[in-house]
Amino acid sequence: TWTMVNIVEEQVERVRAEVGTKRVICALSGGVDSAVAGALVQRAIGDQLTCVFVDHGLLRKGEAEQVEKDFVAVTGASLKVVDAQERFLTALAGVSDPEEKRKIIGREFIRVFEQAAREVVEEAGAAGEQVEFLVQGTLYPDVVESGGGTGTANIKSHHNVGGLPDDLQFSLVEPLRELFKDEVRRVGEELGLPPEIVWRQPFPGPGLGIRIIGEVTRERLDVLREADAIAREELSRAGLDRDIWQCPVVLLADVRSVGVQGDGRTYGHPVVLRPVTSEDAMTADWSRVPYDVLATISNRITNEVREINRVVLDVTSKPPGTIEWE
Ligand code: XMP
Repeated sequence: TWTMVNIVEEQVERVRAEVGTKRVICALSGGVDSAVAGALVQRAIGDQLTCVFVDHGLLRKGEAEQVEKDFVAVTGASLKVVDAQERFLTALAGVSDPEEKRKIIGREFIRVFEQAAREVVEEAGAAGEQVEFLVQGTLYPDVVESGGGTGTANIKSHHNVGGLPDDLQFSLVEPLRELFKDEVRRVGEELGLPPEIVWRQPFPGPGLGIRIIGEVTRERLDVLREADAIAREELSRAGLDRDIWQCPVVLLADVRSVGVQGDGRTYGHPVVLRPVTSEDAMTADWSRVPYDVLATISNRITNEVREINRVVLDVTSKPPGTIEWE
């Protein structure tokens, strides 16, 4: 629409004025905000931007490909992909505690991103350029929540990205800091990003790592990724994407129950479906997904994912439950 065109044009001009001929780096998370922010800055300054995507192996099915193929195809951005799956799995080995998992994932993420940023800086330096700016997908609600100062919602201090060392200092470019989520989505559409990116459900930074109750292993991630993909596919097919805030699928990896399939007894794991409605994730209600949709999801998961023999539904609101199980 006209207003979205205006917003895009205005921000493009602002970014150009702000960064001049300097180089800019952007961390893509796979989420909506960083994708739209990156696409906007790309529209403004083209090849002066390098996007960095850390694949920690905790993403949902298709997400890495959406960044590596669709985002690049639409925006023409230059993308540096770091495959850090092994590293994250190794760091998470033997860990079951939710906060411990978060700490490890956050720490490893910063280390990997820091190394990638260093390489981008070195490459630019070799070409006689300087990387001075970092793109952040900070939204207006983040700005308000953090006291309305300079946008530092996702990071702790203005020049210190989640603990980047002092020799890597960036100023922030925050082209979305006047926008709400629905406006960000419309800007994303205006920029030509595919609906799979623009209409993606909120997804936690620690990813599937906090949706496996118990230790995170490659095998468990593969199982959960398949079950999650089926649930998302069927909820989309039923036209429920915009009614449901998000629907975590949780693998109870340390629980087994007896089942029967064909002629045989099974002893598999349950997954929990956690569809919720919400305005802002502060409170939530369990979503009254039609029984036939639940039936289809349950049938498909138990038929298609061998390790799972039971699908259960979480009917707890928030509070007292949180949206995620960890
Ligand atoms: P809870 O589980 O606290 O979740 O009701 C509220 C919202 O926050 C997301 N969430 C996270 N996002 N890092 C994130 O970036 C995290 O560690 C994290 N934990 C929960 C959750 O998906 C929901 O949208």
